[in-house]
Amino acid sequence: SSTRFYDFKVQTKTVTKLCNTKDIVTINGMFPGPVVYAQEDDRVIVRLTNLTPYNATIHWHGVRQRLSCWFDGPSYITQCPIQAGQTFTYEFTLVQQKGTLLWHAHVSWLRATVYGAIVVYPKTGVPYPFPYPYEEHIIILGEYWLRDVLQLEQAVLASGGGPPIADAYTINGHPGPNYNCSGNDVYKIDVVPGKTYLLRLINAGLNNENFFGIANHKLTIVEADAEYTKPFTTDRVMLGPGQTLNVLVTANQPIGRYSMAMGPYMSAQNVPFQNITAVAYFQYLGATPNSLSLPAVLPSFNNNLAVKTVMDGLKGLNTSSVPKEIDKNLFVTIGVNVQKCNRKNPQKNCQGVNGGVMAASMNNISFIRPNISLLEAYYRDKNGYFTEDFPGTPLKFYDFVNGAPNNAPNNTNSKNGTRVFVLEYGTRVQLILQDTGTVATENHPIHLHGYSFYVVGYGTGNYNPDKATFNLVDPPYMNTIGVPVGGWAAIRFTADNPGAWFMHCHLEIHLSWGLSMVFIVKNGQGPLETLPHPPADYPRC
Ligand code: C2O
Repeated sequence: SSTRFYDFKVQTKTVTKLCNTKDIVTINGMFPGPVVYAQEDDRVIVRLTNLTPYNATIHWHGVRQRLSCWFDGPSYITQCPIQAGQTFTYEFTLVQQKGTLLWHAHVSWLRATVYGAIVVYPKTGVPYPFPYPYEEHIIILGEYWLRDVLQLEQAVLASGGGPPIADAYTINGHPGPNYNCSGNDVYKIDVVPGKTYLLRLINAGLNNENFFGIANHKLTIVEADAEYTKPFTTDRVMLGPGQTLNVLVTANQPIGRYSMAMGPYMSAQNVPFQNITAVAYFQYLGATPNSLSLPAVLPSFNNNLAVKTVMDGLKGLNTSSVPKEIDKNLFVTIGVNVQKCNRKNPQKNCQGVNGGVMAASMNNISFIRPNISLLEAYYRDKNGYFTEDFPGTPLKFYDFVNGAPNNAPNNTNSKNGTRVFVLEYGTRVQLILQDTGTVATENHPIHLHGYSFYVVGYGTGNYNPDKATFNLVDPPYMNTIGVPVGGWAAIRFTADNPGAWFMHCHLEIHLSWGLSMVFIVKNGQGPLETLPHPPADYPRC
């Protein structure tokens, strides 16, 4: 294994898109940002220098950060933000990791434009468990905003109202021909007839889960969240933000130009959405240059069945370490709710449902980030920044609802708090994630930092331990799971990586509203079970 060094400069760049010129925050002036290439077990060193006036951090989404929690990146969880003019060097090893992941900013809504791919190749001489593709391409799904995203975030949170809609969806930063002034702002892959391509699909979008498909072509999923899967062939896929899928596509159609399309999956029907698809071209060599592209047909925006079909098709390939027994079983409700507007929320305009403030919670706790690094507070035994009483079941079983109820109750149904759940080293954990909510139930992409987990079960409706069936044979090994709308998912992992690990909904607005919590995993006995000291250049708040 070797060491890969990257120099990341956070800097603004002027871009023109959708008939509009504005400054966006980027890494090294690139949008999407630079690709981090490595091989399994490599050491990755990224020196981040912040040349903007904004706070910055980078999270290496899906990198398991074995004994390197200090470098995980979520602001106020594992580090203070890197302030204007400061530098921080991220250092981690890709222990037993290969495949496609992503990196993104993890402070405010900066990740709207600050994101990029991580591509980890197998060790030299180790083949893929599928035929070697002729070529590979990175396809990053994103959202583009004409407004300044950081101001937008402030405005949305201050209003207490619902989520905003992006001005465009994008593929590798390009909206494509369905948008104004974007006829030439299109991403294109040139393909050789008969050849097979590996597409590394990444959803880096802020607030949407997305469908992706290519006109007249089948996609064969071979990897999900940087872990191999049994091959599964489908017409289209769905990715929640943070999720990655490697798919094989064979150019086996008549020579021509085909659309690669991305469009939103919105399980909550009362959430606003923009029903325009971002389009890129999958263009055969020999096709007439400006030929019309065959349109890709995506499922309708609320097609839950299409999502279930993809989920049912995901079966893990290497599943020797599925925890068969569990030591701790937690039941966690996830959902969006409304908090009553009162003197405690003086800065809010209370434009949410029923004149309240939009909130989101896990087990009725809306997470409030501390104003220092929670990991450091834990490590240095500083009191007063968090409490160790995250409940293992909801505070009260109030409204398990399948589908959105008509009106939100008047009462406050989440409490604010900075509560963590402490796990002894080596605990085999099962989490039942139950979708609920008093405003809307919807599919929530739940991401756990520091671990991959086995998705051993899922279903619609309320979890019923007597009826639920689990797959302990070939469950997929993932880092982000779209919990079915109005349903549940069961995940398992062994808590063998000490640190403070964020778990949250990867819809950014829900994260802002508090749909998150933190696991603190204690050190074990041995040196390889102990979190080292923080780095010398660890940022201060
Ligand atoms: Cu990709 Cu905490 O996020």
